[in-house]
Amino acid sequence: MIPPETVQAIRDAARIEEVVGDYVRLRRRGTNMFGLCPFHDERTPSFSVAPAKGIYKCFGCGAAGDSVRFLMELEHFTYPEALRNLAKRYGIEIQEKEPDPEEKAAYDHRESLFAINEFAAKWFHSQLWESEEGKLAGLSYLRERGFTDELIREFRLGYAPKDWHSFAEASTKEGYKVDYLKELGLLTKNDKPTDMFRERVMFPILSASGRTLAFGGRYLVKKERSPKYINSPESLIYSKRDVLYGLFQAKQAMIKEDRCYLVEGYTDVLALHQSGVKNVVASSGTSLTTGQIRLIRRFTPQVTLLYDGDPAGIKASFRGIDMLLEEGMQVRVVLFPEGEDPDSFAKNKSSDELKAFLADNEQGFIAFKTQLLIQDAGKDPLKKAEVLKELVQSIALVPDKLTRTLLITDCAERMGMDEGSLMTELNSILRRQFKKKQEAQEKQAQKTEASPQVPFPQAPMPEVDDQRPQAPDESTTIPDELSLRHRQERELLRLILLYGNEKMQALEAAEDPAVQSPELISVTTFILDEIHADDLGFSHPTFLRALEEIETLEQEQREADITPLFLRHSNMEIRTLAINLVSDQHNLSENWEKRYNIATEKEEDLLRRNVMQSIFRFKLEVVRGLAENARNKLKELTTSGATFNEQQVMQMLREIQNYVDLTQHFSRELHRVVLNPSR
Ligand code: UTP
Ligand code: MN
Repeated sequence: MIPPETVQAIRDAARIEEVVGDYVRLRRRGTNMFGLCPFHDERTPSFSVAPAKGIYKCFGCGAAGDSVRFLMELEHFTYPEALRNLAKRYGIEIQEKEPDPEEKAAYDHRESLFAINEFAAKWFHSQLWESEEGKLAGLSYLRERGFTDELIREFRLGYAPKDWHSFAEASTKEGYKVDYLKELGLLTKNDKPTDMFRERVMFPILSASGRTLAFGGRYLVKKERSPKYINSPESLIYSKRDVLYGLFQAKQAMIKEDRCYLVEGYTDVLALHQSGVKNVVASSGTSLTTGQIRLIRRFTPQVTLLYDGDPAGIKASFRGIDMLLEEGMQVRVVLFPEGEDPDSFAKNKSSDELKAFLADNEQGFIAFKTQLLIQDAGKDPLKKAEVLKELVQSIALVPDKLTRTLLITDCAERMGMDEGSLMTELNSILRRQFKKKQEAQEKQAQKTEASPQVPFPQAPMPEVDDQRPQAPDESTTIPDELSLRHRQERELLRLILLYGNEKMQALEAAEDPAVQSPELISVTTFILDEIHADDLGFSHPTFLRALEEIETLEQEQREADITPLFLRHSNMEIRTLAINLVSDQHNLSENWEKRYNIATEKEEDLLRRNVMQSIFRFKLEVVRGLAENARNKLKELTTSGATFNEQQVMQMLREIQNYVDLTQHFSRELHRVVLNPSR
């Protein structure tokens, strides 16, 4: 039992942004901070932390709570464990009695496994430092390899003795269940269990928060019929697909450097860490998994893969790299000189030399892959075509359009190819992808009810990169038959329904540099004001009705929760419209100018940019329509044969000129927000 006053002290001391900050890269946005939600998969941050209130909340999945709740959810801690963890962190002493054997037995399964691993890690560690055998065999081995005592402690390295039963005896004497010890792979499964790890240096594999999940044990001398490393099996607490070796020791540096180095082996992690490159992890034995990538992405979107110079090994890893691209990661590669791995290379280098080498030798993954494949293909045109296909396929996985375009240009240059044909290939892949996703989405939409209120603009899925004129196959762009103007109207409604209550700067305030803390208004207010300011309206009957209802609701109650009302609206057309807009957001992605949408853009800018663009596009479309009408009228007048006076014609010409000026004005404005959203 933790005394209530201690609980209060812990709660007072724990700072939500620090606790969350251990797991999530947070960026300040006004008084709150935002990051990628660790509880569900996402690419645009909808996870918010309010330091003043001491709480977190995810607008995407609904997770919410304080720092204790956060640790309970993320680490699967029990309530007392979360408190203990925080107490340790903030140096608060808990006067608590040791659990007696009965309590120990009552620990749930999972917690027993953690407790055993913790015990084992300590035991192996003490063997390394305290037993004669450990010092002679283990410690001297590690020191000989150049690892410092400090590093050995930081990574909690240990030693498992040669004897068959030392650990079995020590652990059972402590009262740990043999079944659990077997389950964790620390003991063999025989009737008379023996130690699984013998005469090995031990590498504890830790969770992001530093709990011991598993072990890797390396033999000291090469043994016939025994692998170099023995690793713990998967268990209730260890799923190797979701674990990265070194993450606990790397995560702070990953956040700080905004980059993660990925290596192959335990010792590579140790060597780089010791040389001052601390943002380094290994996928330890498995090829990279999506789970591991997401783990990295919580801290940084940039990954640099470190390879030793063996082309066969590199090619084998291409699939894993494609997965990184697909997850929206920025992937770079550093190739080490022939015969060197990160471990050996780091050894004879100073920290500065190593860092300089990494900085000087990294290249973008596509460039790297192109180079490697071209070497292979030589002059064989068939092989070259294959290479090309493979490259474009990789590029198509990149979610960001600008990046894709840059990569295509780069690739074309390297291959001495025409950019246009690469673009065509890319587009056909993207179309296929788009169609597939759309079909999947439609199915999904039919099955599940629309989920209301997505807080921030999500990165739209890749659309076709059509800077070049396309073949008339437009099947993948817009599903409905709406005119351009109607589509602009629909887009504005979509923004209102999805982000209406988000705040943004009013236009005049943003224009005026003298305004210090500009007024924030809701997206809905902004859009309604803009439509009114120029006395414009909607032309599509359903959209107009929706707009009018939104206005009425806004007048009755500021920041009304419009979306749920519309989703249950008695009018079928409005209801269907709302459901489509809310659930099927990607079909309107044409309005999301992604060419300039770099990954680092803040959500508020992204939202503001999109709202402004949609407004200007709409206005542009309206004045274009008006200009068109006026021209037609003039034409009618001058060709009808009826008499007309010069003044009338001049008047109409002025009107047309006025619309043309307005058109130019709005396209300039549009262009300006596209280029510079913060103004
Ligand atoms: P390496 O053979 O490159 O090992 O395997 P290493 O980590 O560089 O070790 P040293 O430098 O020889 O001491 C790379 C990784 O593959 C996994 C381990 O995670 C290792 O770190 N591996 C390798 C195994 O799981 N089992 C093995 O038998 C070998
Ligand atoms: Mn090695």
